[in-house]
Amino acid sequence: MVRYLFSFALFGLVAAENGLNAWLRYAPIPNAQNYSASLPSSIVSLNSTETSPVYTAGTELQNGIQGIFGKRLSISHANGTTSSSIVVGTVDEYAKTGGSVQGIPELDEDGFWLSSKGGNVQILGENERGALYGAFEYLSMLAQGNLSSVAYATNPNAPVRWVNQWDNLDGSIERGYGGPSIFFENGTIVNDLTRAGDYARLLASVRVNAVVVNNVNANSTLLSTRNIQGLGRIADAFRPYGVRLGISLDFASPMDFGGLPTYDPLDPSVIAFWTNVTNQIYETVPDMAGYLVKANSEGQAGPLTYNRTLSQGGNLFAKALQPHGGIVMFRAFVYNMLNESDWKADRANAAVQFFKDLDGQFDDNVVVQIKYGPIDFQVREPTSPLFANLLNTSTAIELEVAQEYLGQQCHLVYLPPLWKTVLDFDLRVNNQSSLVRNIISGKRFNRPLGGSAAVVNVGTNTTWLGSHLAMSNLYAYGRLAWDPAQDPQSILQDWIRLTFSLDNEVIDTITQMSMESWPAYESYSGNLGIQTLTDILYTHFGPNPASQDNNGYGQWTRADHLTIGMDRTVSNGTGFSGQYPPEIYEMYENIETTPDNLLLWFHHVNYTQRLQSGQTVIQHFYDAHYSGADTAQTFVPLWESLEGKVDTERYNDVLFRQTYQAGHSIVWRDAINNYYYNLSGIPDEANRVGNHPYRVEAESMTLSGYEPYPVNPFEMASNFTAIITTSNNTAGTAMTTLQYPSGTYDLGVNYYDLIGGKSNWEIYLNNRTLGRWYGNNEDTLGHAPSTYLDGHSATRITFRDVQIQKGDMLKIVGMPNGIEPAPLDYVVVLPKGIVD
Ligand SMILES: *[C@@H]1O[C@H](CO)[C@@H](O)[C@H](O)[C@H]1NC(C)=O
Ligand SMILES: *[C@@H]1O[C@H](CO)[C@@H](O)[C@H](O)[C@H]1NC(C)=O
Ligand SMILES: *[C@@H]1O[C@H](CO)[C@@H](O)[C@H](O)[C@H]1NC(C)=O
Ligand SMILES: *[C@@H]1O[C@H](CO)[C@@H](O)[C@H](O)[C@H]1NC(C)=O
Ligand SMILES: *[C@@H]1O[C@H](CO)[C@@H](O)[C@H](O)[C@H]1NC(C)=O
Ligand SMILES: *[C@@H]1O[C@H](CO)[C@@H](O)[C@H](O)[C@H]1NC(C)=O
Ligand SMILES: *[C@@H]1O[C@H](CO)[C@@H](O)[C@H](O)[C@H]1NC(C)=O
Ligand SMILES: *[C@@H]1O[C@H](CO)[C@@H](O)[C@H](O)[C@H]1NC(C)=O
Ligand SMILES: *[C@@H]1O[C@H](CO)[C@@H](O)[C@H](O)[C@H]1NC(C)=O
Ligand SMILES: *[C@@H]1O[C@H](CO)[C@@H](O)[C@H](O)[C@H]1NC(C)=O
Ligand SMILES: *[C@@H]1O[C@H](CO)[C@@H](O)[C@H](O)[C@H]1NC(C)=O
Ligand SMILES: *[C@@H]1O[C@H](CO)[C@@H](O)[C@H](O)[C@H]1NC(C)=O
Repeated sequence: MVRYLFSFALFGLVAAENGLNAWLRYAPIPNAQNYSASLPSSIVSLNSTETSPVYTAGTELQNGIQGIFGKRLSISHANGTTSSSIVVGTVDEYAKTGGSVQGIPELDEDGFWLSSKGGNVQILGENERGALYGAFEYLSMLAQGNLSSVAYATNPNAPVRWVNQWDNLDGSIERGYGGPSIFFENGTIVNDLTRAGDYARLLASVRVNAVVVNNVNANSTLLSTRNIQGLGRIADAFRPYGVRLGISLDFASPMDFGGLPTYDPLDPSVIAFWTNVTNQIYETVPDMAGYLVKANSEGQAGPLTYNRTLSQGGNLFAKALQPHGGIVMFRAFVYNMLNESDWKADRANAAVQFFKDLDGQFDDNVVVQIKYGPIDFQVREPTSPLFANLLNTSTAIELEVAQEYLGQQCHLVYLPPLWKTVLDFDLRVNNQSSLVRNIISGKRFNRPLGGSAAVVNVGTNTTWLGSHLAMSNLYAYGRLAWDPAQDPQSILQDWIRLTFSLDNEVIDTITQMSMESWPAYESYSGNLGIQTLTDILYTHFGPNPASQDNNGYGQWTRADHLTIGMDRTVSNGTGFSGQYPPEIYEMYENIETTPDNLLLWFHHVNYTQRLQSGQTVIQHFYDAHYSGADTAQTFVPLWESLEGKVDTERYNDVLFRQTYQAGHSIVWRDAINNYYYNLSGIPDEANRVGNHPYRVEAESMTLSGYEPYPVNPFEMASNFTAIITTSNNTAGTAMTTLQYPSGTYDLGVNYYDLIGGKSNWEIYLNNRTLGRWYGNNEDTLGHAPSTYLDGHSATRITFRDVQIQKGDMLKIVGMPNGIEPAPLDYVVVLPKGIVD
């Protein structure tokens, strides 16, 4: 057995990995056999009940150590500590069985003590969940090759460390980019919940303690007897990992599902309905964590329908849950549609307007769940001022691991540096230190509850999120929920070692790519606080700056031909800055003290306004979009430098996505720059915008069976025009003679990949085939698709190192399929080192 594992260690690096084990691979470490003699020889797990997290900890330690060192330790559930053992259990149970707890500090709920000093290892939790967390911590050390002696206790920053899945009962996932739901299909709970258990294992390893399994836009049929039984099965799959079940509720269920004439939260029949439903669920899931409620938001029912307050709505559930120890997470994402012609209208004001006066009116088991920024998970937002306005209410921060507005897991965007701008922000309530992370922990305002929730979109894909690299966000979310003071880069490096390798080159390379990824994405999507300039009316994926304005959603930019930005000052604008405590208000009220990266969030300025950096707003837009896209290009060679150091399966998956991102970042860059150039008429000082000497526009090629197509919005096509086939079932041909000096080039083709058809294209150089590709990104990428030629479907394929002679004939033959007319935008012939 040991021999077999040893040879596995030698070849482990090249074995294909599909991502299912994520950061819990327990891959053999270099020279593992040298350590096995110094490892303890057995495991004592102080609970023999199989559903106990302590029991799980025992088997996890056994499997982990076998994987890492090739040594199989026996497990006993007997009393006490034998010599040279790893003992795992609760502090209380350890003491009861005669263990000495001297020197172990008092622990908070879910906290643990880990000691590897002396011959024995002690992993002791305040509760069973804490003991399991300690086992995962110890295994994480070992898997990273860290065998040092340690002895310390650790406790969570806050009790609420939840994830929210937005899974629908039909199996689809709102903002899901990693395949369909692991929990639901066809209106009910899936039979095989293996993946639910695997998910709980991953979450427990980063100390997440509850999962809300269904969409906040909830469906009341979740409450059927059959579905409640199914929820019981999910809770059973979670329980061995100490993860508790939560569910989202539809406020109108008493009417939609219960057949009552009302869902008024003060109506006795409604109260009886919810009490009964809650009692029913607790009979099946006695340890349910609680409810998540989205009320009076984006078309959802809520208490305001009956002129009741949001707190009366929240307390309705709180009272039903209270006898069972459950809690209500009540979302603060409440806003009305607005009219942009009103200069003072501002959606950012909504949360404070709706909730400030309710402070102190929520029951003690209600937590108000607040998105990190006042709008909606944008690439940069100021900290939500609601955190500074609820001093007598428990609060949690809502983060988004799902990259809804941030590249949908097709762009690498490592999010913790963004989250930290909020968690570490000092709101200066009453002119005293008031870090958001100390507000949500309950410490700043002495609240009993609080914490964090992250929207997560894991699906049936073996990569969980559709992308291997996106998993660093899920890992880091849990780590930061436990301790938000941690450094995002050091969390990232733990994740890299666990997920990929202990090799320094692998660690340094993925660190560089990840740490540069959010700044790059901000630079080529929307900078200076203007928000992610994506299509807010359709997919939330590709660029569409015009979609922000002239609608009621209030994600406005107020861009015209001279000016841009939202005036959120008190003096002349929407008054939003006045929702902050005085020191913060003064900083944002004044243009001189507003940081450049939030300038357009707070101020409406000329495009020629000078930034603190000295640059004008418009030139900064141009420069940032070029430099951001340039950075995204470098991720491809950086990743390629790891060939052979990462298994082929994951290497190829990531390479495909990084290549896609490199191409799509150029789509972003050009769309945004052309849009604002067209609007402002101010040219790029460096003369790049609208000037592409290495491109051959498809519409300028010799066409047969193809015709020019004016793309809308115009900025989604180079020179505003693409070509599409003239027929739905006959190939089109586009030809051109290349006039570039003879040499070696990278040859890129920009095309559109729509859902609803899989065209194929073949490219020739002088009758020699360079390659062939299919319009099947809808199957391979997972982002929200588009049925149009636009910024979501626009993409690039690149043929590397092509020998081209001056005068060569380039030909592309496109075969349409379904609704996809083999669209082409341009060909780009890139000398080495040129990005365009
Ligand atoms: C053992 O685990 C079960 C299931 O989690 C739990 O109910 C029981 O209290 C545990 N026993 C001890 C002694 O901790
Ligand atoms: C463990 O020891 C305690 C106290 O010595 C005793 O009460 C208990 O029954 C023992 N349990 C087992 C499983 O041996
Ligand atoms: C979906 O559920 C309905 C009943 O709710 C059932 O009639 C149908 O056969 C199911 N379909 C599948 C594919 O399981
Ligand atoms: C709620 O779920 C039921 C059963 O799956 C489905 O028929 C219904 O369309 C869903 N309602 C909404 C609003 O999605
Ligand atoms: C309580 O809920 C159960 C299951 O949904 C239902 O059968 C029962 O009629 C309800 N009782 C009341 C009083 O609403
Ligand atoms: C709510 O109050 C408004 C006036 O404030 C009134 O017009 C409306 O009828 C009330 N609605 C209900 C359901 O009581
Ligand atoms: C995972 O998703 C990717 C991209 O969406 C897809 O190419 C792959 O086939 C999926 N794999 C599985 C096992 O679902
Ligand atoms: C003040 O607000 C008005 C709209 O009410 C706007 O037109 C004007 O540009 C603003 N002035 C400044 C200095 O921002
Ligand atoms: C903005 O430009 C207009 C005209 O181009 C000018 O009158 C105004 O003073 C400028 N405003 C600022 C704040 O520079
Ligand atoms: C841009 O498109 C126009 C037609 O809209 C065409 O006349 C012109 O040649 C194109 N420019 C290039 C560089 O292809
Ligand atoms: C091709 O199909 C689309 C939609 O299927 C249709 O709208 C279009 O008219 C068709 N074009 C031709 C040339 O047949
Ligand atoms: C390419 O093929 C066509 C016929 O299909 C022929 O007329 C032409 O000469 C060929 N060109 C080259 C450079 O071989």
